[in-house]
Amino acid sequence: MEICQNSLLKLKAQLDHRPQQRKPGDEGSTVTPIIEQLLETLNFGHLDRIPLFKVNSNPNRKTDIACRYPDAAGNRFFTQQQDPLLLVEIKATKCQLSPDHKDYWETLRQLKEQLLGSRSTSTQFGLISNGWVLQLFRRHDKIIHPITPILELESDAVEHLAERLLNIIQSPRKGTIIGVYNNKGGIGKTTITTNLGIVLAQQGKKVLLVDFDPNQADLTHLFEFQAVEGHVWNFLKGDCPLNTVIKQYSQNQGKNKVKLDVIPAEGKFLELSDLRISQDIRLEYLRKQLVEAARDYDYILVDMPPNWRWFSQAGVLASDVLLVPANHIDRLSLQNLEELVIKFLPQIEEWRAEINDSPVSLLPLVLNRYQRTEAQARNCKSFLDKIISQNPQWKETFTHFFYTGNTWMGMGTKWLELPYLVEICRSPLESPRFVPAPLKYKKAKQAYESLIREVFTDV
Ligand SMILES: Nc1ncnc2c1ncn2[C@@H]1O[C@H](COP(=O)(O)OP(=O)(O)OP(=O)(O)O)[C@@H](O)[C@H]1O
Ligand SMILES: [Mg+2]
Repeated sequence: MEICQNSLLKLKAQLDHRPQQRKPGDEGSTVTPIIEQLLETLNFGHLDRIPLFKVNSNPNRKTDIACRYPDAAGNRFFTQQQDPLLLVEIKATKCQLSPDHKDYWETLRQLKEQLLGSRSTSTQFGLISNGWVLQLFRRHDKIIHPITPILELESDAVEHLAERLLNIIQSPRKGTIIGVYNNKGGIGKTTITTNLGIVLAQQGKKVLLVDFDPNQADLTHLFEFQAVEGHVWNFLKGDCPLNTVIKQYSQNQGKNKVKLDVIPAEGKFLELSDLRISQDIRLEYLRKQLVEAARDYDYILVDMPPNWRWFSQAGVLASDVLLVPANHIDRLSLQNLEELVIKFLPQIEEWRAEINDSPVSLLPLVLNRYQRTEAQARNCKSFLDKIISQNPQWKETFTHFFYTGNTWMGMGTKWLELPYLVEICRSPLESPRFVPAPLKYKKAKQAYESLIREVFTDV
């Protein structure tokens, strides 16, 4: 399907004649007609759009416009008002849709609530716009992340923009790429990558783990895999298909088999400097290959080294979302969150913009090896609050990263926790063969399941 040229011409004219003065409360008069025209351009006809669509049983929770293309039998959305594909949240022209402004986060909060509504379980995309800029988000299970940068709505660029949106909406990918990263060593990156992957696989998801820490290669050693020399190198360059680098892990669980795939770390990288590697392998090659692999996998988890050099940069650059573990009594692991948000991620955003890609977004902070005592939790919270207060221009980003819920110890805030469990640290040592802790220990399984329920799926 191609964009509708007739509608495009009308859309360009509308954009050229937008009132220059931005006014509060003009979403109905100014922005809605522009967005409706854009949706027409994307081939959502009159019968494919429903205004004020109820996303759940609460009659006050409505999305501004919901859309769905006709199904295989030709049924139109208007006559069968279910399973929307795209939800649109329309804002007034004065609403500031930029991440340094609270308007953006409030709009995102609304969009997320709508995308997770009981009548939008099949919805894959959400769009926000104030008539001057727009951003498209992708929803996979409970994860919602940007799939485009914030794009300007300008008449001379709108054809390209509409083609881009149509392309994404018409060939949605299946999976999500999750980078597991903190600059601090020994915080649980490899353990979380492994165990989260296993529990997702247990829940029937198709999972790929990537060991992108060749220096330690912990994940590869855990599973006792050995990469064939040169294969990962060639895969990253696009000279070798994915199946040549994959090792399979499987473990019987009663009548079932839990399976996942792993791209092991390769020794070849160890012998070469970052400079030498980057001469042959561009930083964005991993992203390119993993986006392709995400057509087939539900979840791709990338384990990274505790530094900010070639492998961690390429790993973060490859991710749709980042899962950042820290520890509540490890000051450096918390301090690093500041550097990540104000130094590393803007750098990544620039690189992603150069390849015309969306920004990476942060999953809620996960405090790993958590053993709650009230005093420690308070200290940790004061430390995080200090980071927020010292960086007023990043206030919204930090607040949404650190605190995602409403009911934590009566303080009005909440982070995610993975408890300290001796079963988790013991299992890599147990013989004769490594079996990830959640496959052996109920407590470990439950801990990861509860994290998955909070962030990933409702299973
Ligand atoms: N929830 C947990 N409970 C108990 N022990 C844990 C937990 N999570 C991780 N560990 C233990 O913490 C140690 C460090 O974990 P891991 O190797 O995963 O960290 P890492 O961040 O990958 O380290 P590196 O930065 O060196 O790659 C390991 O011994 C692991 O078994
Ligand atoms: Mg590790």
